Order: sequence, then structure tokens, then C-alpha cells
Amino acid sequence: MARILVTGGAGFIGSHLSERLLARGDTVLAIDNLDPFYDPKRKRENLELLRKVGGARFGFAEADIRDARACREALRSIDGVVHLAALAGVRPSIADPVRYMDVNVTGTQILLQQIDSASIPFVFGSSSSVYGASAKAPFVEGDVTDQPLSPYAASKKAGELLCFARRHLRSNPITCLRFFTVFGPRQRPEMAIHRFAHCIAHGQPLPFFGDGSSSRDYTYVADIVDGVVRALDRARGFAVYNLGGSQTTSLKQLVAMLEQRIGRKAMLRRMPDQPGDVPITCADVGRAGRELGWQAKTPFAEGLDRFCEWFLQREAAEAPA
Ligand SMILES: NC(=O)c1ccc[n+]([C@@H]2O[C@H](COP(=O)([O-])OP(=O)(O)OC[C@H]3O[C@@H](n4cnc5c(N)ncnc54)[C@H](O)[C@@H]3O)[C@@H](O)[C@H]2O)c1
Repeated sequence: MARILVTGGAGFIGSHLSERLLARGDTVLAIDNLDPFYDPKRKRENLELLRKVGGARFGFAEADIRDARACREALRSIDGVVHLAALAGVRPSIADPVRYMDVNVTGTQILLQQIDSASIPFVFGSSSSVYGASAKAPFVEGDVTDQPLSPYAASKKAGELLCFARRHLRSNPITCLRFFTVFGPRQRPEMAIHRFAHCIAHGQPLPFFGDGSSSRDYTYVADIVDGVVRALDRARGFAVYNLGGSQTTSLKQLVAMLEQRIGRKAMLRRMPDQPGDVPITCADVGRAGRELGWQAKTPFAEGLDRFCEWFLQREAAEAPA
């Protein structure tokens, strides 16, 4: 039973991870500033759930990772850190690159600097976006990652580099996990699956980019959490792993699958391909399989069933009486 600090613990992935750690008996301290990138009400609901699951084993500090004193305080008596706090999302980073760099790069450095002990394992939530323009699918960890297509991607690559430097200087076991488009209940509302589901359910125009052939390697959140926990438990040296579903789904297929589950036709608003977006993401997960014993277990259709079940329940609960 360990005491784990989860930064971004009130968010989508952080709350699922915290739930899993609490369920296996760990103590979790979540640190999160409840950033208004999306409605903080959703983050407070996540925290409420974690309080129910964890009782006294769950603690929460509403604080910013750029606040060195708050980080130092949070890191007291901690056995491991999972760093997920970040400004996420490719497109918004193009509009506000300086803030993305401040939180994702400076914030990561401030947090790393407050870790006293060299034995504390550190897991960093990186992103498939680091592969940018350079990679040919499937993406392998050794591929060149110095051609990011957005400030967000550049900030995640910078985070990996800061992790490497910390490992070199202070020997902490550090693992960078490159998540491939994560989905499931409580997904961020601006992410494609959630946003499209909302548009379909409310009869609103659905932004349909390009010819619908762009493809994503969607990864179910429970599988991502499994990978994070394995990385935490087996931490040694410095390592980078892809965590992806290794199957791709095109935009066209995604919309059709959502229409079927929500029971309504989408109203498409056709738009050109977006700057910063990559045409395809697809993970080679051989390394995570060999070294962490990890593979994604949830087929996309099954994960989408679970997302839609959660989404429709929430819609019903929030519908005006
Ligand atoms: N969801 C995905 O598909 C995906 C893919 C690749 C990488 N990632 C990475 O995984 C991590 C979690 O992503 P998510 O989808 O759960 O996003 P999320 O926005 O739901 O979670 C991030 C959390 O960090 C918090 N946060 C933001 N700035 C902060 C600050 N300055 N101090 C403290 N807390 C702060 C936010 O309030 C939020 O609760 C992020 O680092 C993201 O870059 C996510």
C-alpha cells in the first residue's frame, strides 16, 4: 500500500487513475487547480466520487503545480508521483501557446524540482502528439519526435526532456507514457467523441473535418490506467512507452458508430482539415508489452458502448424536468 500523488487528479484520466489506486488500497493525494478549460463542476463531481471510494485514504489539495510551496507540501511522505496536470488539447494550444508552455513545461519543472528523494518513481503523462509530422504509422518510441505540429505537442516533448534531465541528475526512476487519444466515461467535453455525441444528441451541427478519412488510435481509459499503474509499480531507470489501442478508427466510422448508439443521425458541418492535426495516429505497443506486460484489452466498440451508456445517463439526469 503506497501513498501516491496524482497531479491533475480531478480531471478525466487522473480521476480514473485515482479511483483505481484507491480501490487497490493505496492512499491518494490529488493536486489540481480546477482549471476552467472545461466546467470545473465536472471536476468537483469527480472529486466527490473519489471521496466516496477512498474515504480517509483520499486527500485533495486545490493548488497549482506552478506553486513550488504547494508542490513541496503535497510531496511530503509520498511514495510515487503520477504527473497528469496539464493544459490538454491541440487546437486550443494554438490560440494560447504561452499559457500552455507555462503550465506544461514550467509547471512540470517546478514539480520535478520539489521532489527531494531520488528514489521516488515519477510517471509523466505524455502524448502521441509528440510524433508530429515525422512518423510513419505505427509509431514506435524510437521514431524521431522533433517535429511537433502544435504548441501542445511541443510542450509534451519538452516535458519528456525535462524528465530525462531529472533522471540524469537525480536518478529517480522516470517513465514517460505516450497516451493515444483516451476515451471513456467522464472524457473531457471538448474531445471528439464527447463533443460529437453531444452534437448528435442535441441535433447540433457536427464539425466534420476533411473527407472523414483521418484516423485515430482510440484507447479506453481503463486500459490507460492499467498501463500507468504498471509503470508506477515497475519503475526503473528512464523509459518511454506508447500506450495505445493499436487499432485505428476513421472519423467517418466514429460518427456512424455514435449515430447507431445514440439513435439519431448527425448533422454534418463539413470543414477543412485543421492546422495542428495529424492525419493518423497508431501505436506500436511492442515495448509496453515486453517490458510492462501491458496491452489494451478493450475493443473500441465495447469502450464506445460504455462511453455512450455513461453519456446517455448523464444527459437524462441533466435534462430539464
Ligand atoms: N485525454 C487524452 O486523450 C490524452 C492524450 C494524451 C495525453 N494526455 C495527457 O494526460 C493528462 C490528463 O489529460 P485529461 O484528458 O485527463 O485532461 P483533463 O483536463 O481532464 O485533466 C488535467 C487536469 O489538470 C488540471 N490542471 C491544469 N492546469 C493545472 C495547474 N496549473 N495546476 C494544477 N492542475 C492543473 C486540470 O484542472 C485538470 O483537472 C494531460 O497531461 C494530458 O496532456 C491526455
